[in-house]
Amino acid sequence: MRKYTEPLLSVRDLNFKFTLRGQVLHALRDISLDVYPGESLAIVGESGSGKSVFVKCLMGLNDRNGYVESGSIEYDGKDLTLLKTDADWKNIRGSRIAMVLQDPMTSLNPLKTVGWQIEEAVKLHQGLKGADARKAVYGILEEVGISDPQRRAKQYPHEFSGGMRQRVVIAIAMACRPEILICDEPTTALDVTIQAQILNLIRQMQKKYNVTTIYSTHDLGVVANVADRIAVMYAGEIVEVGTSDEVFYDPRHPYTWALLSSLPQLGVKGEPLYSIEGTPPNLFREVRGDAFAPRNPKALKIDYVKRPPMFAVTTTHSARTWLLDPRAPKTDPPEHILALRERGKDLVAKAAAESAMATGAAQHLTDEDMAGETGRPILGDKPEKSGEVISNG
Ligand SMILES: Nc1ncnc2c1ncn2[C@@H]1O[C@H](COP(=O)(O)OP(=O)(O)OP(=O)(O)O)[C@@H](O)[C@H]1O
Ligand SMILES: [Mg+2]
Repeated sequence: MRKYTEPLLSVRDLNFKFTLRGQVLHALRDISLDVYPGESLAIVGESGSGKSVFVKCLMGLNDRNGYVESGSIEYDGKDLTLLKTDADWKNIRGSRIAMVLQDPMTSLNPLKTVGWQIEEAVKLHQGLKGADARKAVYGILEEVGISDPQRRAKQYPHEFSGGMRQRVVIAIAMACRPEILICDEPTTALDVTIQAQILNLIRQMQKKYNVTTIYSTHDLGVVANVADRIAVMYAGEIVEVGTSDEVFYDPRHPYTWALLSSLPQLGVKGEPLYSIEGTPPNLFREVRGDAFAPRNPKALKIDYVKRPPMFAVTTTHSARTWLLDPRAPKTDPPEHILALRERGKDLVAKAAAESAMATGAAQHLTDEDMAGETGRPILGDKPEKSGEVISNG
């Protein structure tokens, strides 16, 4: 496992809102997250949880009715939330930070050959010209797994299959030699076998160029082999973050339990697949307490009253759930999650030992966030009452 050093990008208490027909939708709620150089970070959550809005904040690509209400995104000594115009973003968007979208057709120009489109990026970002630029194009096409590059370069996007088009988009993004590659659900539009190939390709690129990768998906199952760390999003907030092993084998948030439980790989043969009851909260209204409480059969009373802070589990793992408060009743995760924990206990122990040696990874936790860990009262002035509140049902 990598050792966490100084973050490359730091998001702090980010709140992002949209105004729509006079109403305000609170799309990102107090997001804090560090991204480390060379890592592969997956952002996982169901539809509408805010994955796209979040990654678009890193490139200033959200719709115009959206705005950063508060918080910061520190990158290379700048606060990206202060960049407004295309001119402000010029040296970052599409050069230092590149993005691969869900539908490759939206990023490709249907009227230009694939070779032309890659060549433009090569000329602009690698400073190559003429025959050198063309040679680089063939090299890149081969690198992303497109054979017969001389012939393929002359073709148009519609002559490529969906998976091949996504390879081209990745080729263009990589031709920019970005420091950060953002992939927003890059495989959702593709069938399963192609999905795995594209994921592998992204992983290869990440390793070969040591490019930091931020990857969003609603499918926790697909990130197991590609992500170093996972951040789980629900209703506009990060509810759990940790190394892949920590999130898979020692999940702490009931929403992560539910997400894992609904993975077909974990289902019991002959039994119907678990699905999460209910729907996420309406973000046009203020969310009270723990946003997942109404869908959590094991919710505590306090979950309906007060929003939990982030509790640290290890220096690399934290979760926003009252279950981690020392005063909370012991609540076991569902059985198959316990089985997972058993299966992965060596991996988790190893990760914990390594995280103890690592530095910096927990820096995003504020004093209030850490309050639970040190056992300090977190319910305000009258901690003696809290014993009653933090109880089941
Ligand atoms: N331009 C907009 N105006 C108003 N609301 C918006 C706008 N864009 C996004 N939203 C809202 O922001 C919330 C987060 O949306 P987002 O697209 O980030 O979800 P997501 O996690 O990417 O989902 P999916 O898996 O479906 O892509 C949703 O409630 C969405 O309706
Ligand atoms: Mg999305």
